[in-house]
Amino acid sequence: MAATKSPASRLLRERKHSHLDLCLSEQVEYRGKTTLFEEVELIHNSLPELALEDLDLNVDFLGKRLRAPFLITGMTGGTEEAFTVNRDLAIVAEQCGIGFGLGSQRVMQRDPRTAWTFAVRESAPTTLLLANIGLTQAGEQSTERVNQLVDSVGADALCVHLNPAQELIQPEGDRSFRGGCDTLRRLCAELTVPVVAKETGCGISRAVGEALRAAGVGYLDVSGAGGTSWVRVESLRGDNHSRRLGELFSSWGIPTAASLAMLRGTGLELIASGGLRTGLEMAKAIAMGARLCGAALPIYRAYREGGTQAAVDLIRELMDGLRTAMVLTGSRTLADLAQQPLVLGERLKAWIDAAHSQRGKGQQ
Ligand SMILES: Cc1cc2nc3c(=O)[nH]c(=O)nc-3n(C[C@H](O)[C@H](O)[C@H](O)COP(=O)(O)O)c2cc1C
Repeated sequence: MAATKSPASRLLRERKHSHLDLCLSEQVEYRGKTTLFEEVELIHNSLPELALEDLDLNVDFLGKRLRAPFLITGMTGGTEEAFTVNRDLAIVAEQCGIGFGLGSQRVMQRDPRTAWTFAVRESAPTTLLLANIGLTQAGEQSTERVNQLVDSVGADALCVHLNPAQELIQPEGDRSFRGGCDTLRRLCAELTVPVVAKETGCGISRAVGEALRAAGVGYLDVSGAGGTSWVRVESLRGDNHSRRLGELFSSWGIPTAASLAMLRGTGLELIASGGLRTGLEMAKAIAMGARLCGAALPIYRAYREGGTQAAVDLIRELMDGLRTAMVLTGSRTLADLAQQPLVLGERLKAWIDAAHSQRGKGQQ
């Protein structure tokens, strides 16, 4: 089955292809800016009274039971190559008992004949599956059309991605972000599945989290700074102007650990992602209040280098790191880990203080 060739959908498919290419071959992660997980420490327990086999990593999220608190976050769709990636990584998710996110389904709205490139439900019948659309595109569609997008892939929830930094650097990107809260309020009230608001690598602040909560959003993927930088990816693809603008904003964003710390106590169910590369970082994220952890780039790279087995091996390695941290903090369950005290560094505390001084002033 070949994807179709209408001009608008061709542009989207070419862009997706170049994103996959750049993410495989170029240095697309933040340089000189980190997630700040190095500013978080868990307290060692020399007397854990636990065996590795006692640990329980199961978690209920968005109506599904996962065998580990992990999600492969949304990456692709729209082309034959993207279908193979989606299908294979969905199979990995099914095998590991974790969640799987589809990439932006914008191309499928432009050209419904590309829908098959997102059709992974048969390969992952029990997996927590997340549909994906940009906030601006969702604002341009009736709720019924967005519902069709979710239904057609059999998703359990819809990720609505917020990516103003990426759009502003992308030469052909969106330039207006008006009406975002209204769109989310409408979708949360009218969609048949829950909405997950998701960044794409610049993090979500406390004030934005509160605004999202007020709009009815219950789930956030913080996708903070320190991992894949979409400012960088777009500046690598762009003209001179984009490159200069991209260079200027190459360190923009809220580090993932700072975003998590800011959002603690908002009542939102949090997914930690953006630069999570080890099981120890994932343990810290869960201790900071995340219910799930997610990653995109390392899973994609492992898969491209060694197929589905390499992706499964990487996920096992990450979960081994998480398990080790659980034993070493005396945490039998993820809920126990979430209760552990944390030692926080000064740079992280500065972000938390800034978030609290913004409270009460409304979204700025
Ligand atoms: C190749 C690639 C394509 C992506 N495409 C999308 C997308 O279509 N929609 C979206 O919400 N996020 C997309 N993302 C962002 C990821 O879901 C994630 O939020 C971000 O990359 C940070 O995680 P990481 O540092 O583990 O890569 C993409 C990431 C990668 C690496």
